[in-house]
Amino acid sequence: MCVICLWAGGGGEEGIRVGIRATARTTALLLAVVFCSSALQRLFPHPWTLLLRVNRRYLGVSTAVSHGYHLALLVALYALWVSEPPSILTLAGGGFVSLMLLFLAATSTNASQRRLGANWRRLHLLGIWSAWVVFAGAYFPQALDDPLAGTISIALLISVGLRVWASGRTVRPHSWEGLQK
Ligand code: HEM
Repeated sequence: MCVICLWAGGGGEEGIRVGIRATARTTALLLAVVFCSSALQRLFPHPWTLLLRVNRRYLGVSTAVSHGYHLALLVALYALWVSEPPSILTLAGGGFVSLMLLFLAATSTNASQRRLGANWRRLHLLGIWSAWVVFAGAYFPQALDDPLAGTISIALLISVGLRVWASGRTVRPHSWEGLQK
């Protein structure tokens, strides 16, 4: 996708910017799915929702990988074309969320989960919510003018709605046998 963006944008600064925007969108959509995968399965037990839930760790890592491309393209943009540094707000907010996403990907293992205990869930909740807030802040204001921003905003809102709706529901046991039913 990044290669296509670079090519579509003529290979220069515009191509890099198209890639930055595209990777922000893929990260946001993946995050929306990860955000509600557990809630979806609790609300609508079905092999497809179970598949999402069982694989949410991989979807989470994919979110971080997609964001890694966003950062790599940003490095190229600032190294090659833009001499003015990003604003302090972008650096602080974006930097914090980027570090959180890196941390979430690095600790997406059973061993880290055991080692960090209850803090694992707290840190993952903080990371995923802070990314959600940054995306909401970026896409909600453009939702009515830009259909893509509108679609992502709806996905972000649905993901939160599902989480709220499912909160308090007991966790349904999940297993690979369940997938085969
Ligand atoms: C230090 C880290 C970051 C920097 C310096 C940064 C910088 C930028 C820049 C310069 C753009 C505009 C590209 C263009 O339109 O030409 C952009 C777009 C964007 N970034 Fe980042 N970013 C960072 C991290 C993040 C993080 C952590 C998120 C979300 C979790 C994020 C989400 C977005 C979004 C949603 C857009 C707008 C895409 C669109 O208009 O469709 N960024 N970023």
